[in-house]
Amino acid sequence: MGSIKIAPSVLSADMANLKGELDKIAGADFVHFDVMDGHFTGNLTFGVEILKAVKRSTKVPVDAHLMVSNPDETVDWYADAGADMITVHYEASTHLHRTLTHLQQRGVKAGVVLNPATPVCVLESIIEVVDIVLLMSVNPGFGHELKAMCERHGVSPMIEVDGGISSKNIAEVVKAGANVLVAGSAVFKSEDPAAEVALLQKLGNEAAQEA
Ligand code: DX5
Ligand code: ZN
Repeated sequence: MGSIKIAPSVLSADMANLKGELDKIAGADFVHFDVMDGHFTGNLTFGVEILKAVKRSTKVPVDAHLMVSNPDETVDWYADAGADMITVHYEASTHLHRTLTHLQQRGVKAGVVLNPATPVCVLESIIEVVDIVLLMSVNPGFGHELKAMCERHGVSPMIEVDGGISSKNIAEVVKAGANVLVAGSAVFKSEDPAAEVALLQKLGNEAAQEA
């Protein structure tokens, strides 16, 4: 297995056939699970009960992306439901350091998400405790800046990018430093999601070797 991980986003799957959709992506590295609360984000998706259903339906580890207000108060819901990785937004957290270390003590990989308008420099004080940084942008400049910061601190968290990833741009995003790629429509709206996951893994790993 290569070093580049593909995380299909269940938000783009056919929710009326959740188990069937998850079976198609059994070869993926993570299942990306977008929780939106209708407050931090103007949309409402799914929460704990659907997360439990996902966990019952697949062996692929679940990457829960909490687009919610006050995640410090609710992260345990998702850890209890079986999330393997949990990321919370920098813009929504008041106790970021405490929340991340709390999750890690529970054995959950913990990370921070930055919206496109949030500069990477806000991570300077927290970078040494994060397992994952999730960037909501395919802007290669962000990836380069984050990689340089990680090198300065001697750490190598997973660097995940979410939104708009496809076989057309994955190489560029990997070369900019990303190693976990979320792909929603590219995977679930394709004719053959399993083949698409394999293609993204292959293209991603080839780009990583060239980088
Ligand atoms: C919210 C984003 C996604 C989304 C990605 O975090 O909206 O995770 O499902 O979908 P694509 O890959 O189609 O942009
Ligand atoms: Zn997401």
